[in-house]
Amino acid sequence: MFSSLMNWVDERFPATKMWKEHLSEYYAPKNFNFWYFFGSLALLILVLQIVTGIFLTMHYKPDTSLAFASVEYIMRDVEWGWLIRYLHSTGASAFFVVVYLHMFRGLIYGSYKQPRELVWIFGMLIYLALMAEAFMGYLLPWGQMSYWGAQVIISLFAQVPFIGSELALWIRGDFVIADATLNRFFAFHVIAVPLVLLGLVVAHIIALHEVGSNNPDGVDIKKHKDKNGIPLDGIPFHPYYSVKDIVGVTVFLFIFSLILFYAPEFGGWFIEYANFIPADPFKTPEHIAPVWYFTPFYAILRAVPSIAGSAFPGVAAMGLSIVFLFLLPWLDRSPVKSIRYRGPYFRFALVLFIISFIALGYLGTQGVTDLYTLLSQVFSVIYFAFFIFMPFYTKADKDKPVPERVTFK
Ligand code: HEM
Repeated sequence: MFSSLMNWVDERFPATKMWKEHLSEYYAPKNFNFWYFFGSLALLILVLQIVTGIFLTMHYKPDTSLAFASVEYIMRDVEWGWLIRYLHSTGASAFFVVVYLHMFRGLIYGSYKQPRELVWIFGMLIYLALMAEAFMGYLLPWGQMSYWGAQVIISLFAQVPFIGSELALWIRGDFVIADATLNRFFAFHVIAVPLVLLGLVVAHIIALHEVGSNNPDGVDIKKHKDKNGIPLDGIPFHPYYSVKDIVGVTVFLFIFSLILFYAPEFGGWFIEYANFIPADPFKTPEHIAPVWYFTPFYAILRAVPSIAGSAFPGVAAMGLSIVFLFLLPWLDRSPVKSIRYRGPYFRFALVLFIISFIALGYLGTQGVTDLYTLLSQVFSVIYFAFFIFMPFYTKADKDKPVPERVTFK
């Protein structure tokens, strides 16, 4: 009965064909390690955010006079509302943890390199959309940090030469952050950006499956095939990796649950304390800082001095710090993909880059002092040097010979 039903479907929709192409006959390298869990974990969190978001929308009110109270209502009176809200707010930070690890995997195994440039570009567009999604979502509870964080970020757009103030006005929809701003951020957060995100994720995976996955050895498994055209070092994604990914999901859910149930605000890192106070346009919090996943870029912004009272150079540097990530496939000139066979120059540059990214992330959470500004400048220089000098040190590097087949015992 099942096969006749499937035949009926297959004559009208390529269900079996898609199942084979993307799962049961998608040959993935047999040497995936734990770094390869984060793609499927990102998918899991995407679904979690959409489902919990739908339930939050059932009680949330996008109105400046009701928004804060509606969130408190969800937390206290709606059955299981606290769980839905914390799943969503902790999920947002978990999303960035997973996506940063996923991107880092790309960096160490050279997954952005030819022929996966478009996989990387779609990934970067996902990252941009994710940042927009998180930024607009953070305004919705209408707490002090929602309001003042948005105030800082939107005022950055006002620094753009010539059109800045008009641009900021256009984004806010009012002369200050107000009801019009909250309403449009709500519209973008619940429907526009999620649609874009979903579309990009589909494009990301289609592009990946067109060229095939990279692996921790960075060797091309399509070079050695058996007589049926199946890569000798490949195994079908389903059932091998669909089962293996369950291990990753279990470990993730275990850690996620611990945070969710015991420290959902994570000491002010996932939801800042000031956001438990309703937004007050007349009272600026002493210390405004974005949530942790934005702080490396925020530190770069603050590190660059203003020119003639304009913060535009800082804004430009922040934009550039993201643009360089997009350009990675073309900046890296090494013939070797994986860190396993890379030479000392790249390894050294990568260590410096990791240190500077984490340091900038920390500095972005701190108040401004002379020492911190100086440190932010030093680490910003290292951040940019990693990209600017990449074509030279990757070319000159003393890479090791790459094996013909994957090394897996
Ligand atoms: C919602 C966010 C994202 C989702 C759901 C997602 C999903 C996936 C999945 C399922 C895979 C295959 C499994 C794996 O290799 O781990 C993958 C691979 C990949 N992703 Fe993502 N991704 C996301 C964001 C990103 C971002 C932000 C980047 C980088 C800018 C990126 C770059 C890559 C690369 C380069 C690969 C190929 C890795 C390899 O073959 O070694 N992804 N992604």
